[in-house]
Amino acid sequence: MPSLAAKLHIKNIQKVLSAALSEASILPEKINYIAYTEEPGLIICLQIGKIVAETLSLYLNKPLITCNHLEGHIYASLINKETEWKFPALALIISGGHTQIYQLNNRLDFTLLGETLDDAIGECLDKSAILLGYNYPGGPIIEKLASAGKNTYQLPLPKNDESLDFSFSGLKSEVGRIVKKESKKLDINNLACSLQFTLAKLLTKKLKNAWLKSQAKTIIIGGGVIANQFLRNYLTKNIQKWDRKIKVFIPEIKYSTDNAAMIGILAYYKKTYFKILMND
Ligand code: KG4
Ligand code: ZN
Repeated sequence: MPSLAAKLHIKNIQKVLSAALSEASILPEKINYIAYTEEPGLIICLQIGKIVAETLSLYLNKPLITCNHLEGHIYASLINKETEWKFPALALIISGGHTQIYQLNNRLDFTLLGETLDDAIGECLDKSAILLGYNYPGGPIIEKLASAGKNTYQLPLPKNDESLDFSFSGLKSEVGRIVKKESKKLDINNLACSLQFTLAKLLTKKLKNAWLKSQAKTIIIGGGVIANQFLRNYLTKNIQKWDRKIKVFIPEIKYSTDNAAMIGILAYYKKTYFKILMND
């Protein structure tokens, strides 16, 4: 509901801004630059952020830095980290809107290697949770249900080939089919656990294919779905089996789902290392 989303952005943006300044204990005049998300996202909401950022930039006379939401998810893995990425690196983005694998040859050179051909992985979790009778967001619900279940349902591994593309819509349909077929016999915990396990297997396989092709020294995983503790452990453990020297970068859980700090750190790198400023 884009118009409702826009209304809520207008209603809340000032509260969010004041809360951020007071939590960070910083006065507006102490800010060095203003960063905002330019794309991708719901255009009407992005525009509200843009207008507020441009107004602040003019009023405080501070430079503006435009950021990409997906690059923000990748850079979130550098928040509070002492070490740096080594190149070539791979970045897997798993969120509510995207499932993509990128190769990074340097900090800002992103080449798309593969992506979902239909639903994003987070969408698969969100829609499956609804089929199980729960509300948005489905990811944390599936994780909780799965923790009390076992991997007993045989789910298909869609797009189980050597390509680096994904497909999730069939998996969600299969969850729907099982819910209908099993009816009263359905074990929701086991179905959630089986779904989570299938997604983990699929991500591992695609990431391994990408690693075999790129021989990446660093693997970065970002996006809301990597807030899932099972996926964090499963992927990290498997990557270490391919080569113990691979450095795995995953943001802390609080910086995995959408947040402003990830845009802040991306802007910091852009300003410090690339001097990319819109109105310099
Ligand atoms: O990156 P994000 O916060 O927003 C987008 O850019 O889409 O990702 C949101 C997605 C939702 O699909 C949500 O269900 C999923 O991340 N998610 C999780 C968990 N927390 C959020 N999925 C699995 N396990 C979680 N704990
Ligand atoms: Zn996101």
